[in-house]
Amino acid sequence: MMAGAWLKKILPPVLAAGLLALSAGSVQSAPGDEEKGEAIYAKRCLQCHGEDGDGLGPAAERLNPPPRDFTFGLYKFKTTPFDEDLPNDGDLFRMVSDGMPGTAMPGWSDLLSEQDMWDVIAYIKIFAELEGAPETQLDTGAQVATSAESIAAGKTLFHADDRCSECHGAEGKGDAVKKLKNDNGERTWPRNLTKPWTFRASNDPKDIFTRISVGIPTTQMPSFADPKSKKKLSIEERWHVANYVASLAKTEKVVRPANTVIQAARVEGEIPASPNDPAWDKAPPSTFFMVPQIVGEERFFMAANDTISVRALFNGEKVAIHLEWDDRTKSIPGDDKAKSIADEELAEDAIAVQFPAVIPTGMEKPYFLMGDAAKPVNLWRWSSGTTEEPESIAILDAKGIDGQVTRDEQGGLAAKGSYKDGTWRVVMTRPLVTEAEDQDLQFEEGRFIPIAFFAWDGSNSEAGTRHAMTTWYWLLLKPSASARPIMAAIAVTLLLGAILIWWGRGARAQRREG
Ligand code: HEC
Ligand code: HEC
Repeated sequence: MMAGAWLKKILPPVLAAGLLALSAGSVQSAPGDEEKGEAIYAKRCLQCHGEDGDGLGPAAERLNPPPRDFTFGLYKFKTTPFDEDLPNDGDLFRMVSDGMPGTAMPGWSDLLSEQDMWDVIAYIKIFAELEGAPETQLDTGAQVATSAESIAAGKTLFHADDRCSECHGAEGKGDAVKKLKNDNGERTWPRNLTKPWTFRASNDPKDIFTRISVGIPTTQMPSFADPKSKKKLSIEERWHVANYVASLAKTEKVVRPANTVIQAARVEGEIPASPNDPAWDKAPPSTFFMVPQIVGEERFFMAANDTISVRALFNGEKVAIHLEWDDRTKSIPGDDKAKSIADEELAEDAIAVQFPAVIPTGMEKPYFLMGDAAKPVNLWRWSSGTTEEPESIAILDAKGIDGQVTRDEQGGLAAKGSYKDGTWRVVMTRPLVTEAEDQDLQFEEGRFIPIAFFAWDGSNSEAGTRHAMTTWYWLLLKPSASARPIMAAIAVTLLLGAILIWWGRGARAQRREG
């Protein structure tokens, strides 16, 4: 049951991220009834936050970040000034109503009425014996509207003295690999600021301004309004930084659920073999969600990566798949720096593309998690390499998660990877047709070919069956230009036919009239 709830949880945040719902503090606080709140808590919150509000509910063990321990009365997303420990009730209401994208904390506005939410808030405050609520609100001054100048000023402040880049990285992808822990000693990661769907409290500049000013209590995200901070910022400067951070949101590489087909265009001449070749920019990316592998026997809940962007091209001989995904850590076993930031065991980063061994004729696809006995799959698996071994590519024939065989021969499959500023790019190239006809998928133009993806972040203890994955999507090698005139001819014939029929009818009608 948890698994289902969890999956449901990871998908909708994206919607939530776009909806900048209630701006915090704007909700009128209504008096909550603690007794009614207790009943709602037992039914809806206890499983994660625990009977005693200590965050140790039965489902808690698998959650990262863990459910909040209410007994300290400390909250992360508040709009009261940095030197005020307590949030106001509107802040709590917002988190309960909207939920916290990128975590297991669901939004409750569909299931609970406003009064229910006030009641449960009144109840959770009892765990820390909180009474009343602070009246003070953060001073936001006059909002600076976003503009090219404001974004440029914000960018300078973001990098000056390594102010934000110290943790969030040069491009804001959260890859300035420092081992950060929260006040509880649990591992935390700086947010990837290019992925607004992972923001707990939206990437509206107003919310970002609030985070920069208040910090995120209990984590290492500091306040930049604190006069004691060496890197403090004026109100106006904080607005510039907020506008800059909002501008980092990926716009091209966002998940569009309606897009399930990767369209590969045909190119004349060579296919770009380098993942950084500018020719790839002309191929439009399709971006898909990845979820942790929680269907196989040994389930895994804490995958580090949540999306992958895919492009594809082909020519008369070969097909190439370009894969791009954010990974905060370049995981190279043997490398001391990589080891110092890795979770436990350091493994290679890896990515795999999965195809059915034969293009299905009907809608029946192999089981999405590495196929099944009746319908085997091919996995093209690239690994980032170690200090001793270079990057490598392997073909696996799989008939289920336990039935994988790695081939000795790569049959013309080649791959090249590149890591920069928190992003991996890998190109895999293979001949359209191979000699191992009975084992390998043979590519054909104009057919919808199922395709799925797997990713391993080697610094996040991801190896073997611990990985992120997608479901099946489609790859379509768009019919070549030479096929197009035939299609056009068919279309013209059909159109002419239609005109003739219409004309014939018109002529008959006229004759009747005459
Ligand atoms: C499926 C597990 C789950 C359930 C059910 C759940 N929560 Fe949470 N909740 C979490 C997690 C995980 C966090 C911590 C997220 C973080 O730290 O970023 C959290 C955090 C919170 C916070 C802290 C917000 C902040 O700014 O720090 C509040 C308040 C909260 N939950 C209230 C509730 C209430 C009320 C309910 C029931 C109506 C509830 N939760 C049900 C998992 C859950
Ligand atoms: C010392 C490390 C550190 C520094 C410096 C830092 N951050 Fe963060 N930041 C974090 C961490 C850790 C988190 C995630 C906290 C959590 O677990 O929710 C975070 C989260 C955020 C978020 C996410 C808010 C949300 O709604 O989820 C934003 C936005 C942000 N930081 C912006 C900034 C900006 C802008 C600066 C510079 C002015 C900055 N940070 C400096 C560590 C840092």
